Amino acid sequence: MNKKETDKNVVWHQSLIKKEDRQKLHGHKSLMIWFTGLSGSGKSTIANALQKELFRNGISTYLLDGDNLRHGINKNLSFSEEDRKENIRRTAETGKLFVDAGIVVLAALISPFAEDRGNARALFEPGEFIEVYVKCSLQECERRDPKGLYKKARNGEIKEFTGIDQVYEEPINPEIIIDSNKLSIDKAVNILLSYLFTKINLK
Ligand code: ADX
Repeated sequence: MNKKETDKNVVWHQSLIKKEDRQKLHGHKSLMIWFTGLSGSGKSTIANALQKELFRNGISTYLLDGDNLRHGINKNLSFSEEDRKENIRRTAETGKLFVDAGIVVLAALISPFAEDRGNARALFEPGEFIEVYVKCSLQECERRDPKGLYKKARNGEIKEFTGIDQVYEEPINPEIIIDSNKLSIDKAVNILLSYLFTKINLK
């Protein structure tokens, strides 16, 4: 099928209800909080703990977790560079729909490539995409090895493993850096909450 031809025959249908209307209904802003970092750095744990606190504060949230999405919408994707790009694209587009629906979205994916994270950011309006780099040394992630995957990668049982035989490009200018080598989950969540409630007035 010729994709370009299809594109020009598909016309955007404007919704009568807008993002701003839904945000008003929810009583808070909607945005994407994008957690990036090595496997085992604590992205999912911190995102989950933050979601719990936001929920407790009456914020409508949804968590898009890389591992979980790979059981469903992204189940046909591998860990090649090309498939990771598609993984990030689909997740960002899905997140964009949730943000349009007035929800605070948390996405936790390794998302190792700067270009793919940049493309994800570009889908959102200025101020709507908050990149959180969960920074943890490879050594510490490997020591934790919660799923035993680093061990398998070192044994050659898993190929293209981030940090071992595929690169992780550190974010250059993320909104927030969480040093998960040193910080407890509670402290990390407090930093994020203070950013959301004090700095950008989420509610
Ligand atoms: S991403 O790079 O495409 O963003 P994603 O966050 O969806 O990755 O999935 C990463 C998870 O898949 C890891 O937490 C780990 O549990 C699992 N995994 C399995 N194989 C690999 C691999 N080759 N590289 C990284 N993670 C892998």
